[in-house]
Amino acid sequence: MEFSEEVFLNHLAQTTDQPYLISISHAAGIYLYSPEGKRYTDLISGIGVSNIGHRHPKVVQAIKDQVDKHLHVMVYGEFVQATPNLLAQKLASLLPKKLDCCYLVNSGTEANEGALKLAKRFTGRTEIISFRKSYHGSTHGSLSVSGNEIKKRAFRPLLPDVKFITFNKEQDLEYITTKTACVIMETIQGDAGVRVPSTAYMKALRKKCDETGALLILDEIQCGMGRTGKLFAFEHFGIVPDILTTAKAFGGGLPIGAFVASKEMMRCLTHAPMLGHITTFGGNPVCCASALATLTVLEEENLIEQVEAKGKLFESLLKHPSIKEIRRIGLLFAIDFDTAGRVNKIVANAKEAGVICYWFLSHPNSFRIAPPLTITEEEIKESCATILQAIENA
Ligand SMILES: Cc1ncc(COP(=O)(O)O)c(C=O)c1O
Repeated sequence: MEFSEEVFLNHLAQTTDQPYLISISHAAGIYLYSPEGKRYTDLISGIGVSNIGHRHPKVVQAIKDQVDKHLHVMVYGEFVQATPNLLAQKLASLLPKKLDCCYLVNSGTEANEGALKLAKRFTGRTEIISFRKSYHGSTHGSLSVSGNEIKKRAFRPLLPDVKFITFNKEQDLEYITTKTACVIMETIQGDAGVRVPSTAYMKALRKKCDETGALLILDEIQCGMGRTGKLFAFEHFGIVPDILTTAKAFGGGLPIGAFVASKEMMRCLTHAPMLGHITTFGGNPVCCASALATLTVLEEENLIEQVEAKGKLFESLLKHPSIKEIRRIGLLFAIDFDTAGRVNKIVANAKEAGVICYWFLSHPNSFRIAPPLTITEEEIKESCATILQAIENA
């Protein structure tokens, strides 16, 4: 009864007519287990969340310790609590000086909502520039700045004054002007099928924002937290955003996000109007304990340093004549095939064989691989053998 598909399909709202539909009783490391004891290798980290694996013992312990002290005690921004304090201090110590102040929220889309409001309030401007094919979340503001028109049409009217430019195309930077409040960009476009911009482009974008006074928001909700081989992907390009957004893997498996900026910029949320952005649960102490332990594990286990070698190993093993292209940065992959139908078969075959790969929101001809960064060489070899067989059988 607990794992009833009938209950799942009828009493939990569905988001598609073809849910992945496996039952999970427990999880540990890179593995998920069904109630019947079938083991699945999680090669997608619950979509970019379990970067240090499922139920890392240090994360579980930190959560238990916090639960024994207190849960929610007050809305965001009023009481001084040890764990959110320590998390904010830790995050500031890992980021450039101008990103010294974080506003803690509950999800990725909320982090982007806060970032967009902050940019409008700080600049006094209204225009927002975003990118074609981008994904920033499913609430109205984040959806407004996401680039997939098919996903937006039914929900219009959305935010006005949003313009879209082409990712990694320098000529389009001319659309950024003194009217622009902010440019919002995924440092690495994830759901467009892993698109990596050039360093020259990122530097030109930074320069254009500086010249016009437009704020640069980098959304690292999917590509942050070590996924690309740096704690945050912007570090690859020698630039620093004005506002950074994070979520997903930030919480190590509990829901938490943040938008991060300078203390000076954040101050504008305290007046005109007072309480310019508020949230009841943002900075929930249990989620903060999990996030703090996750950052500590990433450092203590030197996981980020190992990302590139592990990524290269995957890439060297995934050779098959039906693979059209592999796009990769660190341990984030899009694997392209000729048709969406073939991709569906491969994902289904891999699932049957106990390996979880998954689709992208806006790129049907490829599937994603984004395993926990803790995956071992042996596990990479085993997973790749299963994927190659799934491709062969498709
Ligand atoms: C780049 C990016 N931004 C924002 C979001 C939204 O995050 P959430 O689902 O936590 O609202 C996602 C989720 O996939 C994402 O990939």
